Amino acid sequence: MRHFPVMLDACVDALVQQPDGCYVDGTVGGGGHTEAILRRLSSDGSLIGFDRDEEAIVRVQKRLGSEARLSLIHSNFANMAAMLDVRGVEAVDGLFLDLGVSSFQLDEAERGFSFQSKGPLDMRMDQSEGLTAQEWIAQTDETEMANVIYTFGEERAARRIARAIRERRLERPFETTDDLAALVERVKGGRRGARTHPATLTFQAIRMVINRELESIESVLNEMLKRIRVGGRLVVLTFHSLEDRLVKQFFARHTPREVSLQEGGVRIEGERPFVRWISKKPMCADEEELKINPRSRSAKLRVVTVEG
Ligand SMILES: C[S@@+](CC[C@H](N)C(=O)[O-])C[C@H]1O[C@@H](n2cnc3c(N)ncnc32)[C@H](O)[C@@H]1O
Repeated sequence: MRHFPVMLDACVDALVQQPDGCYVDGTVGGGGHTEAILRRLSSDGSLIGFDRDEEAIVRVQKRLGSEARLSLIHSNFANMAAMLDVRGVEAVDGLFLDLGVSSFQLDEAERGFSFQSKGPLDMRMDQSEGLTAQEWIAQTDETEMANVIYTFGEERAARRIARAIRERRLERPFETTDDLAALVERVKGGRRGARTHPATLTFQAIRMVINRELESIESVLNEMLKRIRVGGRLVVLTFHSLEDRLVKQFFARHTPREVSLQEGGVRIEGERPFVRWISKKPMCADEEELKINPRSRSAKLRVVTVEG
């Protein structure tokens, strides 16, 4: 299945303020937003695209490789600032992040992200590093496993699921996605007419922890805010409440606040560089998009302008 870029126009409108500027797309994926950003740039503009999934970089290189304004980099966006240093890029006009997994990753059984099709329990976005889901499940103790499934999956049955995983792995290791999905489904008492598969939240939690997703977001925001020129934009599309909370709190810390002083006057508080919200409330997909792309249901778009 192809990947439908979520809230495409809203993202590009929010990001590109200078058609001849230099922009970064931290999550190239299927290249949908990448391509739309390029269309909005003038012949003097440029775009640097990152993805930690090598297959994504290779695929987009094939499709857009002849585009001279685009450079593609296979790397975790947590290392973006260092990668830009190597290329002599000190400042950019905006950064775009479209977090989570792409349809390409979900659809390819071999990558192990999906409970819909049988594949090895891998779930690494970058297959050249880190523990696979199979290794994580084999090594992690029951309490930690329950905490991860509860925190990152917001799964109420986390304790029961972790206990069942520990008991089952004593007999036989988990090797495939369908094996884990079936166990979670059993623990939760079947599908009970739910719209989503009972293993959705457990898979999401394991994916988030083995890919250290929240840590990477925190790093890229911290490192890149200093590199966005005054007037430039930070545009972040999230699909998970913990991601959204992290982004919202980060922007809030960098929003200047006036504090009244006892002796009169005001003091401006907040972490520098300062940012200004484009709209305090996150933007969401409209009815039309919700109908054609179910993935857009949980999307929240947050945008700030850098004030310096
Ligand atoms: C939702 S998809 C992006 C889709 C893309 N905007 C499009 O229109 O096709 C998210 C992509 O971000 C990548 N990704 C997630 N976390 C990353 C990180 N820390 N560093 C680099 N890439 C990351 C994933 O590998 C995936 O390809």
